[in-house]
Amino acid sequence: MIAVAVRQQGITMSDTKYLDIVNTIRARITSGDYSKGSKLPTHRALALELATTPATVAKAYKVLIAQEEIESFVGKGTFVCSDTRLEQVIHSRQDAQVLNLSILQPCIAYNIDKLTSKISSCLSNITEPDLFGYTENTGLRRHRESGMAWARHYGLETASTDQVLLANGAQHALSSLIQLYTKPGDTIAVEAQTYPGILSIAHLLGRRLAGVTMDDQGMLPEALEALCRQQKIAMVIVLPSHQNPTGATMSERRRTSLATVIERFRLWLVEDDIYGFLNENRMEAITNRVPQQGFHISGLSKAISPGLRCAFIRAPASQAGHLAAFIRATVWLPPPLMFEVASGLIRSGDAYQMAKAQQDIARRRQRIAGSILQGCHMSRQPTSYHLWLQLPDSWQADSLALAAREQNMLVSSASFFRVGPRSDNAIRLSLMSIAEESQYRHALEKLAALLAAGSAVYGHF
Ligand SMILES: Cc1ncc(COP(=O)(O)O)c(C=O)c1O
Repeated sequence: MIAVAVRQQGITMSDTKYLDIVNTIRARITSGDYSKGSKLPTHRALALELATTPATVAKAYKVLIAQEEIESFVGKGTFVCSDTRLEQVIHSRQDAQVLNLSILQPCIAYNIDKLTSKISSCLSNITEPDLFGYTENTGLRRHRESGMAWARHYGLETASTDQVLLANGAQHALSSLIQLYTKPGDTIAVEAQTYPGILSIAHLLGRRLAGVTMDDQGMLPEALEALCRQQKIAMVIVLPSHQNPTGATMSERRRTSLATVIERFRLWLVEDDIYGFLNENRMEAITNRVPQQGFHISGLSKAISPGLRCAFIRAPASQAGHLAAFIRATVWLPPPLMFEVASGLIRSGDAYQMAKAQQDIARRRQRIAGSILQGCHMSRQPTSYHLWLQLPDSWQADSLALAAREQNMLVSSASFFRVGPRSDNAIRLSLMSIAEESQYRHALEKLAALLAAGSAVYGHF
């Protein structure tokens, strides 16, 4: 175990050179310099390159092995893991013993009965043979109209249903747009700490990511502008509301300033607004300000259920046909049967009520977190599904995540969201994935105790 190994070698808490090496290796994995599955240099070779000792490199490798980012095989060497990042950060396993504060989803236990009955009544009343066949190439018009209504409710203006396309969840929307509007080797600007699903797509498809500095409202327009002056940027991906992982939400003013930079540098904008329904007041989409350049993503995964796999993409009028052809060529079409359910929920108004009910649960859980984690430095919004907990000096994020795991608690370390070499010393906590409120309280109390005890007690690196 790392803690033991570290103690045996007499490492003190202030001896953190190996953490710099951990970050250097991670940055190389993120940038694609060390590709997935590739062999890492020997301890000696890397020590020589980084002007350190083989023992320090060995320690860094141990940390990355414990975090399942690299793996070691006796006699063969050490390799970069194939893309496990998403599984590491989103532990979707349902294990009753585990207090899972890692997965960002609605509190499904709350709406499952309603959803089951709506799905079965919708599917048992289908009379249109169309839904069982190959429907119109981008999905049925009424399904796209529902998508347009849903996104409009939360701040998007769309001139025509022809601009709305269906996708198998927001992840599919993101990967389609990245594949279609960037080339291998292109650089995509993203928030300096962002949703790991984007990092995963970029790694697998060989796109470079440039992290843009953020503040408590998310991406800084002046930092994006400086980046665009330095290098060619093909696309910018922005999470404007309840940003994953920091919770940052952009004001209208910030959205306008960012749109000005996007317009000036003629960037493609991908606005991932999957958490937009959690805003207490309707916020105007950034895409409304740059309609010729903006792709806007919304969907039902976070508001209702990720199992539906229903997302909507609004494309600029000039690009709708191109994107439709891509979706058709890659998946033919997202399942009409599921979109029939989604569309029914939206048309009846049930979808908005279910979204509001989840927002209320999130508000209540944020309040509970505020009282149990009193005194901790947290970034969050009153209705976010998650919070970003800045750690005291006595804990390092990876080390806290490991210590929590040993106590059957899953939290997500900042290192999983980092784009450049540095990240906050923070963890992301999902407040919605534990169904029972009493269990949720219990998890936060355990975490508060762990935080108060400090890492010295647990002996983690
Ligand atoms: C910002 C963001 N975008 C997209 C997704 C993926 O959503 P979906 O389940 O609709 O693919 C997530 C899921 O966590 C997310 O946080």
